[in-house]
Amino acid sequence: MKQKTLFLCNECGYESAKWFGKCPSCGAWNTMSEFKVKPETATRSVLADTSHTTSKPVRMDEIETENEARFGSGIGELDRVLGGGAVHGSFVLVGGEPGIGKSTLLLQMCQEMGRNAKVLYVSGEESLRQIRLRASRLHISSSNLYVLAETDMEQIIQETDALAPDILIVDSIQTVYRRELQSAPGGTTQIKECAMLLMQYAKRHSVTIFIVGHVNKEGTLAGPKILEHMVDCVLYFEGEQTGPFRCLRAAKNRFGSTNEIGVFEMSDHGLLEVQNPSAAMLAGHPAGAAGNCIACVMEGTRPLLAEVQALVAKTAFGVPRRTAAGVDYNRMVLLLAILEKRAGLFLSNSDAYVNVVGGMRLEEPAVDLPMVLAIASSFRDKPLPEGVMSFGEVGLTGELRAVNCAAQRIWEAYRLGFHTCIMPDQDLGENIPKEMNIVRVKSVADAIRAVL
Ligand code: TYD
Ligand code: MG
Repeated sequence: MKQKTLFLCNECGYESAKWFGKCPSCGAWNTMSEFKVKPETATRSVLADTSHTTSKPVRMDEIETENEARFGSGIGELDRVLGGGAVHGSFVLVGGEPGIGKSTLLLQMCQEMGRNAKVLYVSGEESLRQIRLRASRLHISSSNLYVLAETDMEQIIQETDALAPDILIVDSIQTVYRRELQSAPGGTTQIKECAMLLMQYAKRHSVTIFIVGHVNKEGTLAGPKILEHMVDCVLYFEGEQTGPFRCLRAAKNRFGSTNEIGVFEMSDHGLLEVQNPSAAMLAGHPAGAAGNCIACVMEGTRPLLAEVQALVAKTAFGVPRRTAAGVDYNRMVLLLAILEKRAGLFLSNSDAYVNVVGGMRLEEPAVDLPMVLAIASSFRDKPLPEGVMSFGEVGLTGELRAVNCAAQRIWEAYRLGFHTCIMPDQDLGENIPKEMNIVRVKSVADAIRAVL
């Protein structure tokens, strides 16, 4: 049969029947490469054997639904992020940097899920022996857990068909490939096509599929970003690889909220759930050191205390250096400008470094005030008083703005032994601990005056 020629962009996967010097979709030069596609195995015909299943519009209230059944993973922190377990037939992407613990998490998940479901774990990265060794280190044994070391998509689908598991795990999407496409595994086109095939498989056969996708900081690795629209849930596993804490965050969830986070600690026996994240984050908090402030942020429905540290030092030469770890860089630069303009702290010829201890990323605006206090404390070289915590959003005129769930944050701080709270002037209601000393401030300058 006659072969069809197809041109695909290596950068964005744009598909066209003729060659372009510059990709019309992403604008990259010289990235179109030629592929020969056999008509009967052309991407679409393999994927869509929809010829016999005609779809018609149906009245919504006539659609039959079973109760949204879920598989519990036995890992509370993971279930919380998924919104109470993995929904049957859903397609979940677990992204994160290499070595962060994605394979470990999924393998640990198999243990519990294997109790009442058949699980197939496909690895394109490790040999069967390696997986077995890892599993025994994690004390995983399940008679319902099957492993396959394979990277050819067709083969994977065939074996999945034969085994008919309830849950399929593909680790990782960057290592699997489809034979019809001549580009290398890990390229945009391969990733998209393999994921598409898996998605259709999940929907058609009601199999819950987890795929692993590596991400790197520079984002040069093709992967999770281009899959986000295809999957039902996107979970990102983050953290400092050198530190013990890992944080699992939902970036998208069709079956639950995206606010929840799960906190884990990497040990020699795999990932452990952190029951009390606030206490864990504050461990080793130095008393009486200048340049740190305890913040309380809301992660979903859960308040979390974390230590924000700042170091302000005179710039020795040239342009001042600024770095931010765990907080947004632009937000930090903005707060430095507000401090200079509204509170009279001359920071424009100082280097400034901000860091959140424990490798946690704090994205909520409520972290503004603690960041400001940590910077001011380091600038003045004067520690904040003992037992102080704070939260509050800072506006461009240096005013403090109210945040939500204030009472809940105060209770969390109280539980962990804090007795003073620096916060915006907002209504708290009745229910706050009486012993807590609430200091309401109206502006950044007020806040600095109150504690430094
Ligand atoms: P892994 O799950 O292989 O990462 P990913 O699949 O995201 O690439 O985890 C790798 C790291 O975790 C590795 O550097 C070692 C560490 N680790 C432990 O500290 N303890 C353990 O029990 C396991 C299995 C891994
Ligand atoms: Mg891995």
